Amino acid sequence: MRTLLATRPDQNAPPVFNITESDTLPTGNTTIAVEYSGINYKDALAVTNRAPILRSFPMVPGIDLAGTITATHDPRWQIGDHVVIAGRGIGERRSGGYSTMTCQSGDILTRLPAGLTLADAMAIGTAGITAAMSVTAIMRAGIAPSERPVLVTGASGGVGMHAIALLAQQGFTVTAVTGRPALADDLRRCGAKMVIGRDEIAGDKPLERERWAAVVDTVGGPVGSAAIRTTAYGGVVTLCGHAGGAELDLTVYPLILRGIQLIGIESVNGPQAQVDAAWNFVATHWDRTRLAHMIHSIMLADVPDACVAMLNGERIGRTIVTLAQ
Ligand SMILES: NC(=O)c1ccc[n+]([C@@H]2O[C@H](COP(=O)([O-])OP(=O)(O)OC[C@H]3O[C@@H](n4cnc5c(N)ncnc54)[C@H](OP(=O)(O)O)[C@@H]3O)[C@@H](O)[C@H]2O)c1
Repeated sequence: MRTLLATRPDQNAPPVFNITESDTLPTGNTTIAVEYSGINYKDALAVTNRAPILRSFPMVPGIDLAGTITATHDPRWQIGDHVVIAGRGIGERRSGGYSTMTCQSGDILTRLPAGLTLADAMAIGTAGITAAMSVTAIMRAGIAPSERPVLVTGASGGVGMHAIALLAQQGFTVTAVTGRPALADDLRRCGAKMVIGRDEIAGDKPLERERWAAVVDTVGGPVGSAAIRTTAYGGVVTLCGHAGGAELDLTVYPLILRGIQLIGIESVNGPQAQVDAAWNFVATHWDRTRLAHMIHSIMLADVPDACVAMLNGERIGRTIVTLAQ
């Protein structure tokens, strides 16, 4: 099998990443021929050594995978089943998706939802699952489509583009915030009605003009803080990311004077049933045509450069990694 492997020859040095040929599979009751993986922000942090995502070495990074079962001792699964994993600790605590073969526990597999190809599943991946969890959290909190828009930050990223498409598909009016105004037409094709720059929601008052019925914030930092300060009375803000900074610059006023709810989204470690529900939601509402221009494919050897480019803000949308030879 062909693998992007992280090793740490010296405990005091950062891990190194090499493409290797190997016949040593990780432990697990189900063997999977991996056809596709993807690149998420967390993968980019791992492969560039920007954050300690990989917990032990040697380790195969890649927090998503999609493939076909070639052997299993788990009675719930059969040879030939198409399966996906998004998160669940792969590419962090156990071997991940940047390998043509893997072994995983049957407990963390999701059956490929009807209507999706394996490549579609990786165009969705952890980013799409996180977007689905964010959108469904907003709907469960009682926000329904109205004149007032829902704001999506980090709009041209993987979570952002899926959130825009899912919200638009549910009938919400979406405003997208981006640091790359040249992508405005691309974001409109995803489903955004309005596209604004990051500086257009700036402002440092504890409460700014009420603008959003809800927010899917994927970036935190100054943009996430400004989004919360501009959310309308009774609004809901989901927070899942820190691409723009881990700190929030806030007072309690948006919460105690406007009744705004902040909802944290965590897609990796929750119950498997919650993950399966998110897959079903996104599969049911997945609109290939809205997002096709935001999805790009690369080969395994291209992963390190693509990870650097992602953190430099040079990639858009979702990147699928093709593993099948
Ligand atoms: N909690 C969870 O379970 C979970 C799951 C998946 C992802 N996440 C997090 O969600 C975030 C997005 O993930 P992703 O896979 O969508 O990453 P991504 O594809 O790299 O997208 C991130 C986007 O954030 C925006 N951005 C980058 N730097 C920024 C800055 N300094 N200030 C404001 N915006 C900035 C950019 O969009 P524009 O150029 O359009 O502004 C960029 O495209 C990451 O922080 C990731 O760790 C969390």
